[in-house]
This record gives sequence, structure tokens and C-alpha cells, in this order.
Amino acid sequence: MLFSLEPKSRREDLFNFNYELANLTNALRGSGRLIAVTGLRRTGKTSLMRVALNESGINYLYIDVRLSIYANYGDLVNLIAKSLNDFILKRTSMLGKVRDALKGLNGIEVSLNPPGIRVRFRGKGKLSISDLFVRLNEIGEPVIVAFDEAQELRRVNWLRFDRLFAYIYDNLPNVKLLVSGSQFGLMYDFLGLNNPRSPLFGRAYLEVRTRRLSPDEALDFLERGFSEVRVNCPRDLMRRAVDAFDGIIGWLTYFGYSYSVNNMRDFDEILRAASSLALEELRSLISALRSSRYIIILRTLAQGPAPWRVIRHRLEDHEGRSINPATVSQLLGTLIRLGVIEEKGGEYAISDPVYRLAAGQL
Ligand SMILES: Nc1ncnc2c1ncn2[C@@H]1O[C@H](COP(=O)(O)OP(=O)(O)O)[C@@H](O)[C@H]1O
Ligand SMILES: [Mg+2]
Repeated sequence: MLFSLEPKSRREDLFNFNYELANLTNALRGSGRLIAVTGLRRTGKTSLMRVALNESGINYLYIDVRLSIYANYGDLVNLIAKSLNDFILKRTSMLGKVRDALKGLNGIEVSLNPPGIRVRFRGKGKLSISDLFVRLNEIGEPVIVAFDEAQELRRVNWLRFDRLFAYIYDNLPNVKLLVSGSQFGLMYDFLGLNNPRSPLFGRAYLEVRTRRLSPDEALDFLERGFSEVRVNCPRDLMRRAVDAFDGIIGWLTYFGYSYSVNNMRDFDEILRAASSLALEELRSLISALRSSRYIIILRTLAQGPAPWRVIRHRLEDHEGRSINPATVSQLLGTLIRLGVIEEKGGEYAISDPVYRLAAGQL
């Protein structure tokens, strides 16, 4: 169903994005070692990854890395164990091979009947994550390891993921890495592909970007979605949604779902609900940054795009003193790396129209 809220996994539920899907599926089947899927929140990264992984026919582990702030060893090992469990339950024919490859590895047990994986993450016999990857390579068939929202792995301060990824890249030819990130700047920093001091520096990678739908596509998406659930939505309301959500498929889905499944018929009410979701996300993003300056910037941009100099003035007015230009640029750079704002033609703007609404309430 097009209007279902969870990320799509089946080709028939995926609207358009044929080009992106073909690119990603080809990349997964090709010889590249590292693939990144980037794009704004709610533009369909997870959906695209899931469908492409299923279409590729290749073995894969899918790890959704929305870790708690205190990402301890157990959190991460549990996530990985869950992905292994999903894998062997989906591909029962691989069970024997996985068990053979993991045999004798500390801290992990594969049972055949019923099929399942058990891990240990305390004490001496705990599982070593890098050894696990070495063993995955020994299955003898390609395995894709997908980290969804990979920038969250930076919270894991007891394991150098950049080193582990570089090791996998260079030495484990059967293991291919797929990463995604809404906070793409952060993700690329974390991977260090462009940082000469990082282990992954200079490695080749493929990037697939998700995008906004065009207004025509967005209208088409809504029409198909409503006809699928056999609900009549007035055309002018659909047009309002197309205008309000700027081609972000996740918001269009949210609108379609609220209208047809939740019976919310008042557009403003739906928009308010969307914006309070966005406000929560925005608050948690900037609370981690620990500076009220971000709030001033976002409140400024809630009124519309603004050039650098206006943003600086607002900050200075607020603080009643002058602020170093480098500091202003640094603050803006951080918001760009988080995928919250973008710079276009000399002006800064909040990328997502619903975030823009929410920013007015900060
Ligand atoms: N191509 C698509 N067709 C239909 N619905 C989609 C599509 N892409 C995303 N969605 C919907 O949009 C929302 C956000 O998608 P998701 O894949 O979670 O995006 P992201 O991972 O970029 O945040 C979900 O409700 C999902 O079902
Ligand atoms: Mg996602």
C-alpha cells in the first residue's frame, strides 16, 4: 500500500524512483566495495535500500542504527544479532553455511532447530565484532552489510568503525558495505573518505541520492494512493498537499495516511500534526548541539531564506555583541551537515518545509 507509514520493502509498494532503484541494485550486484545512500529525511532512503536489497538477490544483513545515546557494547551486538537472525530466518538455505562459518567464534551460537542466533556480550567469551566480519567473509558468498543511518555509529566510542570499515574494504572481498544517512555531512565525516588522516581516505565509493518528487509526480502519487485505498480526496486538497510538502514523499505518505486511514479531513490539522513531529525531531537534533545560537538561526530561517549577513545580524542582535564571522559559518556548516538547512544562490534555507514550520515554534 502506497500510504503505509513504515518503510517499503516490496517493489510493488515503491512509487517511481526506478532510476534510483536500478542504480542501487546495480551497485549492489557490482564490484564496488562501499555504497552510500544519501538524502533528506523522509525521501525514501530506507525504502529504496530495502527494496534494492531484496531485488538484488544477494545475502544481506540490515542494521538500523538508531542507537541510544549511550551506545554500549550490548546495544550494538544486539542490533547485529537481530540482523543475523532476520537473515537466517529469511534464507533458511544459508543456515548451515552460516553456522559453519561462525563455528568456534566466541560469544555467538547458531542453533538449527529452531533456527536462531544467540550472542553473549559480557565477560571473557564475548563476541568480537571484527572477528564476526572476518567469519562472514568466510561464508564464501557475497554478503552485504547495510547500516541504515550510519552516522549514528559515531556514538560507539569503544570501536573505531572507520578502521573496521577500512579493514573490511581492503581485506574481506565477500563483505560489501552499504550505508545510508539523513545527516549526510556527518556520515561522510564519520566515514572519513575525504579526510587524509582517516583510515578510509581515498577509497572509491558509489553514491545513490534520493530526491524530492516533482509536483506532477507528487500529485500522481497522491492520486494513486487514494485510488488504491478507494478514498475520495478533493483535487484542491491534493494540490494543497503538493504545495505544502515540496515533493518529500514521506510527508505525502503521512498526509495520505492521515486523511484516508485516520479520517483526518482538515488539512491544517494534518499539517499541525506533521509539524509537531518535525518539531520533536528538530529539538532532539539541536539539543545535542548544546547552543542556543542554533535556535536563533532556525527561527530566522523559519521566516524564509536568508543570506549569511542577515543571519549574522540576527545572532548579534540577540547577543548584543559582535560575533566572529568564522563562528557564524561554523554554525551554519553544522546545520548543513545535519541535513537541516541548505545553501542555494547565496542564501540559506531550511530544506524541509515542515521543518520550516516547526522551526517557527522553537
Ligand atoms: N517510493 C516510495 N513509494 C511509496 N512510499 C514511500 C516511498 N519512499 C518512501 N515512502 C514512504 O515515505 C516515508 C519515509 O520513507 P523512508 O524510506 O523511511 O525514508 P528515509 O529513510 O529517507 O527517512 C515512509 O512512510 C515510506 O513508507
Ligand atoms: Mg530511513
